[in-house]
Amino acid sequence: MIDTLQEVKSILKKYNQEHLLNGYQDLDERKKNELLKQILNTDFELINSLYLNRTKEKSYKNDKIEPMEYLDKYKLNEKYKYYEDIGKHAIKNGKLAAVTMAGGQGTRLGHNGPKGTYDIGLNSHKSLFELLSDSLKEEGKKYGVTIPWFIMTSRENNKETLNFFEKNKYFGYQKDKNIFFFVQGELPMIDTEGKILIGEDGLIKQAADGHGGIYESLVKSNMIEKMRELGIEWVFIGGVDNCLVKMVDPVLMGIAIDKGVTVACKSIVKANPHEKVGVFCRRNGKPSVIEYSEITNEMAEAVDEDGELLYGESHILCNLFNIEAIERMGKTPLPYHSAFKKAKFIDKDGNLVEPESPNAYKFEAFLFDAFGEVDDMAILRVKREEEFAPVKNSDKEKVDCPSTARELYEKFHNLK
Ligand code: UTP
Repeated sequence: MIDTLQEVKSILKKYNQEHLLNGYQDLDERKKNELLKQILNTDFELINSLYLNRTKEKSYKNDKIEPMEYLDKYKLNEKYKYYEDIGKHAIKNGKLAAVTMAGGQGTRLGHNGPKGTYDIGLNSHKSLFELLSDSLKEEGKKYGVTIPWFIMTSRENNKETLNFFEKNKYFGYQKDKNIFFFVQGELPMIDTEGKILIGEDGLIKQAADGHGGIYESLVKSNMIEKMRELGIEWVFIGGVDNCLVKMVDPVLMGIAIDKGVTVACKSIVKANPHEKVGVFCRRNGKPSVIEYSEITNEMAEAVDEDGELLYGESHILCNLFNIEAIERMGKTPLPYHSAFKKAKFIDKDGNLVEPESPNAYKFEAFLFDAFGEVDDMAILRVKREEEFAPVKNSDKEKVDCPSTARELYEKFHNLK
């Protein structure tokens, strides 16, 4: 331990982060060990470069951006059944699993607890997790299978999520048999001087590393291995906060298999040319998502000969991956994007500071930044009213909030 402490001290000195041991003496043995372990596991070079580049987003000026081809689910005509049959065959043979990303902080919603435990106010008062489990179970029944369900949590909400599932008897699923939980990666938060923050527990303050952390987490947590044992080849990855997410879609799967691509994504057409959403495109020939902040007015408004927006297919975090694509993406480091957030911390005198305005940087990888790893992917346009009811904001915002999601859910399920 003395040797370890010395090693830690010299690392901290090298990276100018010696304050991390300010409260060390007051910690109990377990926490002392934990803090030392955290420090030894921290990639300080990465943290330095994240700090130096915190306000620089990558420049895309020289990228060649082109529209991405897509299929419209409701204009497939006789091909609909053709793709559907291929997908049904694979699903019946147990080739599909679902992953729900539930590691986010849900700051905009402001719910006290994991977002998946949120009740959007339906008469049934079902939580988002239960609505998702209902849909998975119902779809599985159609094909005579139980779709294995993998749930990504973060260190911050893992315990509460597990307790919630346990209390609800895993909604009929069986833990470690057909429902699995894994914890995503995280990165330290830093202040405006580049100093890593110490949290209320005396340890390094870390935050989940974004939904782009999904690939690496699936690999590192051995979930991919588990999927292989179960005979899974295809994995639908979606968010916890879309209560209409259709995780089992034979048409999407049939298209991926038939076209020989390892990724197939769903899109919905933009509500208007300037809706603030990321849209699919080709970037230097590879599949990609162009953010609304990157797109010019001219591109946003451009239409094809049928009057359809050239860049109109929004990415809604509804994506199907072949296991091999996930493994490849899990090995490729993704860029991190910074967000300036409010974060409580312990200052150098040992006092808890509760800031009223943002004070710290958090770093997140985005799932779609990995799309360029594959040569090609299929895009399937689906209907917003059938598959997209996001719960992002509180009701105050009146958009993508519990009341709008509830309305869409009730309409789709004929509940009113
Ligand atoms: P969002 O990007 O909307 O973030 O996540 P959020 O955490 O839910 O909400 P805000 O931004 O703090 O208000 C989209 C999906 O990705 C998951 C979320 O749980 C949600 O299902 N996610 C996001 C993770 O699993 N981990 C992350 O680190 C970030």
